[in-house]
Amino acid sequence: MENLRIPAHVAIIMDGNGRWAKKRGLPRKMGHVEGCKVVEQTVEDAARLGIQYLTVYAFSTENWKRSEDEVDALMQLFRYYAKRLLKIANENNVRVKFIGDISRFAPDIIEGIRSLEETSAKNTGLTFCIAVNYGSRDEIRRGMTRMMEDCREGKILPSEVTEETISSYLDTADMPDPDLLIRTSGEERLSNFILWQLAYSEFYFADVLWPDFNKDELVKAIEAYNGRDRRFGNAK
Ligand code: FPP
Repeated sequence: MENLRIPAHVAIIMDGNGRWAKKRGLPRKMGHVEGCKVVEQTVEDAARLGIQYLTVYAFSTENWKRSEDEVDALMQLFRYYAKRLLKIANENNVRVKFIGDISRFAPDIIEGIRSLEETSAKNTGLTFCIAVNYGSRDEIRRGMTRMMEDCREGKILPSEVTEETISSYLDTADMPDPDLLIRTSGEERLSNFILWQLAYSEFYFADVLWPDFNKDELVKAIEAYNGRDRRFGNAK
């Protein structure tokens, strides 16, 4: 632990909730219930370790295709955690931010998301970024549509478009790119998650299923990151 370089921004693809539940003969949604408890713990662990940004993939644009029962269970969890995270955020000086197209959610969920963002906006510690109804290609499409509208209105010129300009139209506009990406459950795919932002990130794949993830696993990932020969990034 000592002298570990802490990555400024850690992103996590939380995978394996369904398999965790199946192994125990439980419905898939119980895996998500357990997964949420681990999210809560990970936010506290990340804040204490001095990580500045933690981004998690909570619900993808593809996840709507899951069974009605599973999607409903995830929506109920978002309702419950929008309230619960208010308390956790304020106790841990955490600022919560959402990325993705939230317009597809029920009005009360949108309201919960907005109030969580507004209430925690003044906090100065960890920024906890939650990707919901998120797909990287959809984010780029939405961002480029806005950029083209600004072009049409004369706010920017095509010849002025830099990589930074493109970044500024993405949902993550005010955040540094991740230094470290962790994916649990042994799968080694990006699944349409922050593709542009991960251009220079280190990838760490853990075999553990998301509900079994804990602080030791997070530290192991950071240790592996410390062992990499890294030439880019924001780490302290
Ligand atoms: C992947 O496991 C996990 C998800 C699709 C959902 C992850 C969501 C949470 C942990 C809840 C997040 C909540 C908050 C409050 C941020 P999977 O179902 O794909 O597992 P499998 O690959 O084993 O089937």
